[in-house]
Amino acid sequence: MSDGDVASDATAVIAAAGSGERLGAGGPKALLEIAGRPMLEWSLLAFAQSSSVSAATVAAPPERVGAIEDLVGRVRERGESAMPTTVVAGGQSRSESVAAAARGVETELTIVHDAARPLVTPELIDAVAGKLAAAEGCDGVIAASPITDTVKQAGGGLRVERTLDRSALWAAQTPQAFRTEALRLALASGDLGAATDDAMLVERLGGTVLVHEAPPDNVKVTNELDVRVAELLLADRTADRLAR
Ligand code: CTP
Ligand code: MG
Repeated sequence: MSDGDVASDATAVIAAAGSGERLGAGGPKALLEIAGRPMLEWSLLAFAQSSSVSAATVAAPPERVGAIEDLVGRVRERGESAMPTTVVAGGQSRSESVAAAARGVETELTIVHDAARPLVTPELIDAVAGKLAAAEGCDGVIAASPITDTVKQAGGGLRVERTLDRSALWAAQTPQAFRTEALRLALASGDLGAATDDAMLVERLGGTVLVHEAPPDNVKVTNELDVRVAELLLADRTADRLAR
């Protein structure tokens, strides 16, 4: 953590229960190998190396709980993570998976992360956790990037209805850090099937959520192009580490 950050004790909730339909790799994305590791491992390593996280729960596809427990066991055996890590069966939607994993959290803060973002770093995790711990009255801090495209809203016949003010727009990412109580309340009362992130459920209850600007390489793997980009970025990172 950098100077000025407030120490925090958080649990990671890693959403890895999706089926990866858009990628079409024939199995869940979390187990897809990128730069020599199943995608989920990259996130587990980042959380294990962060200073604000003491435990993790992974939401796995229900039929892959055993396979993901084995993956977690291998990471531990290799000495890459001593972080206590449990695996639970995820739900039908992303937020239902988050809710299943958040149930057992015992720390004051929870950091939700998508396994589909393997480029997450310990620094980014500690930055969102530290910002939340330091911001009194704030319920969540989310990693996000400023929108660089001009954004149009289109209606029937794809007719443009308006151009949004880009200067105020951010693309939400994970990690997203929450006060556990606020997250649980939001997950208990929101429409989990329709939520595309957890912060929107907290916002709907009137919660305060702050943005933290993420580095530009915290990409999400959705399709084949993203896999290629993530491969290149992670391979670079591995090479950097070896060069040290
Ligand atoms: N996720 C989850 N439980 C679900 C659906 C999604 O834990 N029922 C997780 C995914 O594993 C992923 C993150 O939420 O890490 C973001 O979802 P997305 O990128 O949409 O992944 P998938 O749902 O696997 O992909 P697709 O929508 O193409 O099937
Ligand atoms: Mg999905």
